[in-house]
Amino acid sequence: MKSIQVGLLGLGTVGTGVVRIIKGHQQDLMSQTGASIEISKILVQDKSKLRDIEVSSELLTEDPRDVIENPEIDIVIEVMGGIELAKGYILEALDRGKHVVTANKDLMALHGQEILAKASEKGCDVLYEASVAGGIPIIRTLVEGFSSDRITKIMGIVNGTTNYILSKMSQEGAAYHDVLKEAQDLGYAESDPTSDVEGFDAARKMTILGTLGFHAHVSLSDVKVRGISQVTKEDIAYGKRLGYEVKLLGIAERQDDYISISVQPTMVKKSHPLASVNGVFNAVYVHGEAVGETMFYGPGAGGMPTATSIVADLVAVVRNLKLGINGQRALAPFKEKKLKTDEQ
Ligand code: NAP
Ligand code: HSE
Repeated sequence: MKSIQVGLLGLGTVGTGVVRIIKGHQQDLMSQTGASIEISKILVQDKSKLRDIEVSSELLTEDPRDVIENPEIDIVIEVMGGIELAKGYILEALDRGKHVVTANKDLMALHGQEILAKASEKGCDVLYEASVAGGIPIIRTLVEGFSSDRITKIMGIVNGTTNYILSKMSQEGAAYHDVLKEAQDLGYAESDPTSDVEGFDAARKMTILGTLGFHAHVSLSDVKVRGISQVTKEDIAYGKRLGYEVKLLGIAERQDDYISISVQPTMVKKSHPLASVNGVFNAVYVHGEAVGETMFYGPGAGGMPTATSIVADLVAVVRNLKLGINGQRALAPFKEKKLKTDEQ
């Protein structure tokens, strides 16, 4: 098989992790895919910026056409974030027959159907494991691991930044704003952390999990959202005295044809496994009619954990290329069926 050429859109926290893994694990990736994976171009905003990783200046470009319109590039990895621009680049890449891997939950929660429809029309893969719970392979688990079961409930701590903040407030009595700054410095928070602390990031992730878990199209507007910006140290201390930890919990439930999805600060009994998920760690609890209770745990944000999911998607695309089945075995297609929310 020829070498596979990859173009990156973005070289920030996650993009840097992706380059590190592709370079550092080259032999392992080749033995798993039978192909050498090479990075041909990386789109950034500012080529002159000082970076945490050494990359040849010829690799960097400020012109998106060098990636999107580059005939050498087989697979585009979108790790720049934002919605409209990223959507435009991804659709254009698909139009040109390129496969796409993305970590962009904002985009997939809002425009996933349109993007996946274009991918299937063009016979391309679009994979987005990194969009929910960074280093936990929860999308594959829901779609493949639970294909035999009927999922009735998904509960998740799916935002690393807020879990980091709440854990530090609980364990160290730290002040909200100091810990938010730490989470930003560690690369966990979104460029505008409002979406983390007000629960929108978790709501987007729950939209994706609800859609995949319940085999139905769940809209972001179906999710009732409240963030943690109003949670005080006193609330947390009060909860602890009563035997609870405060967690920003996404809860998606399905009963027959009805679903309800919410994201809100929740008192979780200390005896529940979700209560001891601390720091940047995420956990997703899944209840299936046949399997009963399961829980998946791991780092939910940060460059390297998130990059493991992206490179795993990259490996999946390359394997599909080898088998000639891109776009046919679309991992996790969004379905058209609309379940009723409790407001309908
Ligand atoms: P980031 O550190 O802010 O990096 C963004 C990168 O994209 C930068 O390299 C930036 O260029 C480039 N970029 C942004 N806008 C651009 C534009 N208009 N044109 C060209 N280049 C542009 O972001 P990140 O934390 O890596 O996150 C990237 C994506 O992954 C987002 O969708 C985010 O939600 C998602 N995600 C992040 C995490 C995490 O833990 N950080 C986890 C899961 C998913 P410069 O470097 O020149 O500024
Ligand atoms: N800002 C997000 C979080 C990044 O804190 O969970 C991972 O999606």
